[in-house]
Amino acid sequence: MNISPSSGSETSDRIIIFDTTLRDGEQSPGATLNVDEKLTIARQLARLGVDIIEAGFPFASPGDFEAVSKIAEIVGTENGPTICGLARATQQDIKTAAEAIKPAAHGRIHTFIATSDIHLEYKLKKTRQEVLEIAPEMVAYAKSFVDDVEFSPEDAGRSDPEFMYQVLERAIAAGATTINIPDTVGYTTPQEFGAIIKGIKENVPNIDQAIISVHGHNDLGLAVANFLEAVKNGARQLECTINGIGERAGNAALEELVMALHVRRQYFNPFFGRPAESEAPLTKIDTHQIYKTSRLVSNLTGMFVQPNKAIVGANAFAHESGIHQDGVLKHKLTYEIMDAQSIGLTDNQIVLGKHSGRNAFRTRLKELGFDLSDQDLNKAFLRFKDVADKKKEVTDWDLEAIVNDETSQAPELFRLEHIQVSCGDHSCPTATVTVLTPDGEERTDAAIGTGPVDAIYKAINRVVDIPNQLIEFSVQSVTAGIDAMGEVTIRLRHEGRIFSGHAASTDVVVASAHAYMHALNRLYVSVGQGVAVHPQHGKPVAAGK
Ligand code: KIV
Ligand code: ZN
Repeated sequence: MNISPSSGSETSDRIIIFDTTLRDGEQSPGATLNVDEKLTIARQLARLGVDIIEAGFPFASPGDFEAVSKIAEIVGTENGPTICGLARATQQDIKTAAEAIKPAAHGRIHTFIATSDIHLEYKLKKTRQEVLEIAPEMVAYAKSFVDDVEFSPEDAGRSDPEFMYQVLERAIAAGATTINIPDTVGYTTPQEFGAIIKGIKENVPNIDQAIISVHGHNDLGLAVANFLEAVKNGARQLECTINGIGERAGNAALEELVMALHVRRQYFNPFFGRPAESEAPLTKIDTHQIYKTSRLVSNLTGMFVQPNKAIVGANAFAHESGIHQDGVLKHKLTYEIMDAQSIGLTDNQIVLGKHSGRNAFRTRLKELGFDLSDQDLNKAFLRFKDVADKKKEVTDWDLEAIVNDETSQAPELFRLEHIQVSCGDHSCPTATVTVLTPDGEERTDAAIGTGPVDAIYKAINRVVDIPNQLIEFSVQSVTAGIDAMGEVTIRLRHEGRIFSGHAASTDVVVASAHAYMHALNRLYVSVGQGVAVHPQHGKPVAAGK
């Protein structure tokens, strides 16, 4: 079957990229995003060229509903991506998802119910017969709202294939146009996962009426390998996330899948019935947007990207050893299988300096894909001037860090007005901070610590009295050089929930203070909002009702 996910017209046989960063990715502990942050990421995903954005689980909370609905309205345009809402196989979930995606030109409902015996017995407390009835009934219900319905048998990787074939056949008969096969717990090996897809193609009689999709977690580090094997066996939609974020060890990483299909297209082409040497891309992704998207998601979710991460890690294109550098200088292909520029990692052009004016600043930001309101532009420009005073050369990556920081949509309920720190090898690190509280009161206090950051955090804790435990702290430089801007990402825990914070500055101590305030503000807001329902291990609901 050749169905275009967004236009409804025929497409060539290629891979459909279904991005679930805003749904499964956001299920990572601490990756919680607010509505505006989700919208910013959705816009960038559209620029990246994903076919479908799974924008959230609308039933989870009013905030989740609002985010899906806004993304549907603003990003789900006629030529934009399909906007998908997740729903358990219940009428209330499906109806809520249908409402949320309504503003999109192309909307999809993704409904799921588990098919493995372990999930049936312990989570759903349902018989196989009940699941066989609920799945088609709920697909048909979803179909009463939209044409585009996706169905997933959760924990497919551990399900009895014969039973799953029956469920899938009924779901397709009821109108599902995409059948998604999740390896929910990241248990299968590539050969096994490929065989599951092959088995479905051979044993589900009406499978030609649906696109086969795959979804998988990375618990054994096999998600991407599993997906590529699935592609060889006929899967044509890949559900993935930026930087591979998601439940537990995460999901299959979009950038790894896309670049594997791009760099090794001669190997994959024959599985699509194309000549091996065909240059036609296998996905619709603009690979030049990959690096930028990765950084945006990392900054907004507070999910740090490990330096050795394939494609987008800081070392992915760095040639540290002398032998490699020599080889690369003689001929790039000796040690490089892809060009850094193909993922948008340009040579870090020095574009602006302290004499650059507002127009040059705005123009460069536009070229980098930032379309700021006048108010945000003013804020970012003031910050740029400040950075340019301290740092001679302001690169594209610096600009990006400034804009991400200054236009951060995180609420600023407590505002850090002033910090002063003293430290040294023979003195006791001491910090004084002044914070403006949400009711306008200015509070100043001081503390000593084991180091400057510890002293600042203790001083802030004295004025912002929210108990928490700092569980992660990382500093990364935006560019090379002694005057580089530093980006600080932190994660803290409060009553079992994790919150992240992020900030950038030429002074890492200042960035550390702002990152902490960022996380505290997120914590403060979300405590007042209550806990969202988790789609997979949230409170059980009467499936189908
Ligand atoms: O991992 C999983 O099974 C899921 C489903 C909701 C598709 O995320
Ligand atoms: Zn998942």
